[in-house]
Amino acid sequence: MSWLINNLGYTEDKTAHNGSKFLIGNGYMGYRGTMDEHTKEQLVSCVLAGVYDKVGDSWREPINAPNGLFTTLNCDGEVLTVQSSQLEKHEQVLDIKHAIHTRETIFEVSNGNLVHLKSDRFFSLDDIHLVGLQLTFSAVQDCTIVIETGIDGDVWDINGPHLSQLATGATNGIIHMSALTQEMGYQVAVSEAIEIDFAAKQQIITAPQSILRQITVEATAGEEYTFNKYVSVFTSLDSVEDAGHAAQLSCHNALKSGYDTLLLNHKQQWVKYWEKADISIVGDDDAQLALRYSMYHLLVIAPHSEKVSIPARGLSGQVYKGAVFWDTEMFMLPFFVYTNPEIARRLVKYRCHTLGGARLKAIEYGFRGAYYAWESQDTGEDACTLFNITDVFTNRPMRTYFRDKQVHISGDVAYGLWKYYTLTGDESILLDGGAEVILECARFFYSYAYFNKDKNRYEILDVTGPDEYHERVNNNIFTNQMVKYTLEVALQTLDLLERKYGEEYSKLINQLNYQADIAHIHEMNELLYMPQPDSESLVIEQFDGYHKLEDVNLKELKTRVIHPNEYYGGGNGIATSTKIIKQADTIAMLNMFKNNYSHEVKKANWSYYEPRTEHGSSLSHCLYSLVAADIGNAEWGYKYFMKSATIDLTGESKQYVGTLYIGGTHPAANGGAWMSAVLGFAGVNANEHQILINPKLPDKWESIAFNLSWKGQKMSITITKLAIVIRADRTNTATLPFEINGEAIECQTGQELSLNFHYDRSII
Ligand code: BGC
Repeated sequence: MSWLINNLGYTEDKTAHNGSKFLIGNGYMGYRGTMDEHTKEQLVSCVLAGVYDKVGDSWREPINAPNGLFTTLNCDGEVLTVQSSQLEKHEQVLDIKHAIHTRETIFEVSNGNLVHLKSDRFFSLDDIHLVGLQLTFSAVQDCTIVIETGIDGDVWDINGPHLSQLATGATNGIIHMSALTQEMGYQVAVSEAIEIDFAAKQQIITAPQSILRQITVEATAGEEYTFNKYVSVFTSLDSVEDAGHAAQLSCHNALKSGYDTLLLNHKQQWVKYWEKADISIVGDDDAQLALRYSMYHLLVIAPHSEKVSIPARGLSGQVYKGAVFWDTEMFMLPFFVYTNPEIARRLVKYRCHTLGGARLKAIEYGFRGAYYAWESQDTGEDACTLFNITDVFTNRPMRTYFRDKQVHISGDVAYGLWKYYTLTGDESILLDGGAEVILECARFFYSYAYFNKDKNRYEILDVTGPDEYHERVNNNIFTNQMVKYTLEVALQTLDLLERKYGEEYSKLINQLNYQADIAHIHEMNELLYMPQPDSESLVIEQFDGYHKLEDVNLKELKTRVIHPNEYYGGGNGIATSTKIIKQADTIAMLNMFKNNYSHEVKKANWSYYEPRTEHGSSLSHCLYSLVAADIGNAEWGYKYFMKSATIDLTGESKQYVGTLYIGGTHPAANGGAWMSAVLGFAGVNANEHQILINPKLPDKWESIAFNLSWKGQKMSITITKLAIVIRADRTNTATLPFEINGEAIECQTGQELSLNFHYDRSII
C-alpha cells in the first residue's frame, strides 16, 4: 500500500502535473508520466542526463531523445486516446518500490465496444540504456485493432529544436532513428524491437519525424493480446564507438533475454537501492508514503556518471535549463552521503570536472580561484543569464544578480565536498581533485573579500544570499558563514595533505602557485567579520541594514500583488523594500552551523524569521523543519516536513516566475524531506569522530527506522518514543562511536544496543 502512487480518471489540465508526479527513469534518462499515445502536446519527454544543446541565442538546455515508446490504438477506424475518447476507466499507477509505471484504461468506442488497454513500462536500472514496455489489450466485441508503435522524433523542446538530421531505418526487424544535436553534433540514437506472439499483419511506416510499425489484429472478443517492446538509447557521449550500432545491439540482446528476465534484473537493482535507503515510519501512513516518494524521486534521477549531477528539476524536463544549483550539495547530497556514498562521490566529482568553468567565471568577474556557476551544466560555465526573468508587466527582460552575486555557491561546493569526505572517510576524493576544488574556492573568497582597514576586518560585500528577494547586500550571515567554513576546510585540507601526502601536497601547491594564498587564508580566517546575535533579541540580522526595511506582514504584502506571476524581488519587486524574505536564509545558516549557536539563539531566530518567510522556493520548508526539530519542537517542524515531502504529490508549488515556467519535480525538497526526517526528527548529527543521536519524533510517529552508512560502516537505527536501538552491521570493520543522551557509547561489529531514551519535552 505504501509503495504505490495512483491517480484515477483523466483530466487534461492535470497532464503537466501528472507528467512530473509519475516520472520514471534510471539516472541516465528520465521519462515523464505521460500516456503511450501522448506526444509533445502533452509534454512527453525523455530527458537525457548531461546531454545539453543550444540553438541560436536561446537558452542551452538538456535534450529530449526521440520517444521510442510512442503507441496508439485504433479500434475499427477510431483512434483511442485518453484526451479524445470516452473513458469507462482510467488509472495511472507508479510503483515506487520498483520504478514501474502502469496505466490501465477502458475506452468506450462509439460503436459500443469497450477496449481495455494496460501497459507497464520501466527504465532498466540494470542496463541504463534499456527501456521495457509491456502492452496488453482486449475488446468486449470482435473488432479490428490497429496499433501504431515506434519512434516519435517530433519531441517537446523549450528552446529547441535540438535534434537535426533525423534519419530512420529498419534493420533485421529493429527500427531505429538517429539525430545530431545542433551545437556539438552529438549523435543521439534510439532503437526499438518488438515481440509479438499473436497473428497480426505488420508494416513499417516512415514519416519525416517518425518511424512506426503498423500492426493490424483481428481481435476476438474477450481475448487478451500482449506484446513487449524494447527501446534502447545511446549517445556519442557514451563510451561506445557507434551510438546507433550500440542501440541496435542492445535491442537484439533484450530480445534474447526477454521481458521477464529484464524486468527481474531491473527490480533486483531497485531492491538494492531500497535496502540502503528505506525508512519506515510507524504511526503516520501519510508521512511514510510521502517520504518514500521523496526518496524515490532522488533515486530515479541518481547519476551513473561523475560528469553528471542532479539538476534542480531532476529529469522531469528541460525546465530551468537542466541546470545544477546549490540544491545538489546542500539538499540532496546528505541523503546520498548517508545511504549511498558511491552516488554521493559522483555528485562531488562532478564539481571537480567542472572546476575549469568555475575558474573561467572567476576570471570573467576579475577574481582568482573558483567561482562556481550558479546554473551549472556539462562544462561548468554559467548558464544563468544576466536577465533571467521577464517582467510580467512590461514583458521586458529584468536584470537579476543570481549569476553575478550568489557567491555562496563556491562555499556550498566546498561544504558538500568536505561533508562527503568527513562522513564517508573517503580521503581519495581530496587527492582526486577535491583538494584543488576546496583550495580554489577559498582563494576565490579571499580575492572577493573586502578588507575594511578602519575596522581591521574582512567583509563580504555586494552579495545575494539564499533570499533572492534582497540582492546585492553586505555581510549576509549565510554567505559569511559559508566563506568562513570554506577557509577553515581549506586550512584543514592543507594540513591533512601536508601531514599525510607530502609529495601530492608540494605538487599541488606548486601547480596552483598557492604559497602566498596560505598566509592570506590564515589571516582572513582570523579576521573575517561575522554578524552576531543581537544582545537582547538574539536575532541575527540577515544582512547589514535588513532591520531598516519595512516590517510588513506576509498577508499585507500579498494584498499588494498586481499580477499572479509577478516577481517579488528585483529592482521594484514588492518584497525588495520589506523584511519579507523569499526562503530560509539565516535559518539555513543555523541548520548548517547548528553546533555553533545556542538553543536560545536558534529559537529566537526561528520565531523571528518564520513569519517573515514567503517560502517562494521549495528549498525553504525543510530548513524550517530542521531547525524546529533542533530546538525541540517537532510539531512546529512537522507541517514544514510534510510540505517538503508532498510537494511533487500535490503539485502545490510555484509554476511561474515572471513569464518563466518552472514546473517539474523538486529534488531539493525531496532531499529536504529526508534531512527533516533523519537529521531533524531522528536527530542524527554526525561528524568525522562520532554519530550523535538526539531524537524529537513528532507526536504521531510511534517509531522511525532507517539505515545509515558512516565512514564505510553500516548500521540500522530504530527510534521509538522511549528507546533507541542500534544495530551495527556484521560486515563492519570498525566499532561505531555514538553519543546518546550526552553519553559516549560504542557499538561493536554485529552488536545490537538498546538504549532507553527520554525525550525532554521541557526544552521548548
Ligand atoms: C531558489 C534557489 C534555487 C533555485 C533552483 C530558486 O527559486 O531561490 O535557491 O537554487 O530556485 O531550485
